[in-house]
Amino acid sequence: MVLEVHTRKHIEERVRAGVLEQGTVELLTEMGLGDRLKREGLVHHGVEFRFRGQGHRIDFQDLVGRSITIYAQQEVVKDLVAARLAAGGQMVFEAQDASVHDVTSASPRIRYRKDGDERELICDFIAGCDGFHGVCRPAIPEKCLTTYDRTYPFAWLGILAQAPPSSKELIYANHELGFALLSMRSPEISRLYIQCDPDEDIANWPDARIWEQMHLRFTTRDGKWKLTEGPVIQKNIAEMRSFVADPMQYGRLFLAGDAAHIVPPTGAKGLNLAATDARVLARGLAEYYAMQNTGILERYSEICLRRCWKVQHFSWWMTSMLHRIPGESAFDRQRQLAELDYVTGSRAASTALAEHYTGLPFTI
Ligand code: DHB
Repeated sequence: MVLEVHTRKHIEERVRAGVLEQGTVELLTEMGLGDRLKREGLVHHGVEFRFRGQGHRIDFQDLVGRSITIYAQQEVVKDLVAARLAAGGQMVFEAQDASVHDVTSASPRIRYRKDGDERELICDFIAGCDGFHGVCRPAIPEKCLTTYDRTYPFAWLGILAQAPPSSKELIYANHELGFALLSMRSPEISRLYIQCDPDEDIANWPDARIWEQMHLRFTTRDGKWKLTEGPVIQKNIAEMRSFVADPMQYGRLFLAGDAAHIVPPTGAKGLNLAATDARVLARGLAEYYAMQNTGILERYSEICLRRCWKVQHFSWWMTSMLHRIPGESAFDRQRQLAELDYVTGSRAASTALAEHYTGLPFTI
């Protein structure tokens, strides 16, 4: 049974992530959700890093024989909801004031309100997939939980624009004025981000100022590259943080996705990491119901955190390498550019990046 606080329309329209690792694509396909993804997803075999006014391509296909697929998170959500309902699963939308109880007992409970009625669900297990601000993680006693937290002194201003993407592949730019990222959602829609201050007021960023910054930050030395503008259809500022809760399990409550961990967006790992948590949990539950075997469930936290920390490192590393860090010294700046030069110039370093970017192998 799925409890969702928002309406179906809200979760199916909310603009979030857009990059699926190859393993996530394979998982969705195995689950029978590959049809529309295959038709509408944009498969990318590489990515560009742009610095000192020059582009450098990392060729995933050549380096690791893998790819990524651009397919918006809300499209994944639509496919998941439709498949769940078609399979006869129950979903309650607009479930309010949810709280979890007795999670260390054999039958944990969830209380919530729907249309003004108080309801209670008696469960075998609870998957806490309710995000960073949800009620599940706080249900674990503080003394049983270690948390690791890091905030960054910058944020991302993101826009969705009705403009054909100016590049076939994503461009990560490290520029004197700050980071910029060119991404897309379809052949008609661009998704672009620029680094800004974390306490920036979006009202200070009229469309013209955003485009001006984009043009400057993506400029190439030869002056040949052109950014295509278009009407801005959505605009937001996202803070950046790294966060991990350890353990991810307490009794029969299993945290998954942002309820357990947050990564900064650089490298597009949040959705993919959440999908692997769900994959491990699903395996554990399947094994439990088929054979009463609790082996995977008992190791859930250990399995997920092992991957999580590698992805944490990758996301922190991409973030540190690509942004202008307030207060950085001239030495730090040169070191950062040298790192980009090395990562894009060395086959060994590019391979490590390609392996991470397209997704580490799934292991249990
Ligand atoms: C997108 C987001 C990311 O964080 C990223 O690294 C690449 C692409 C996106 O929204 O398209």
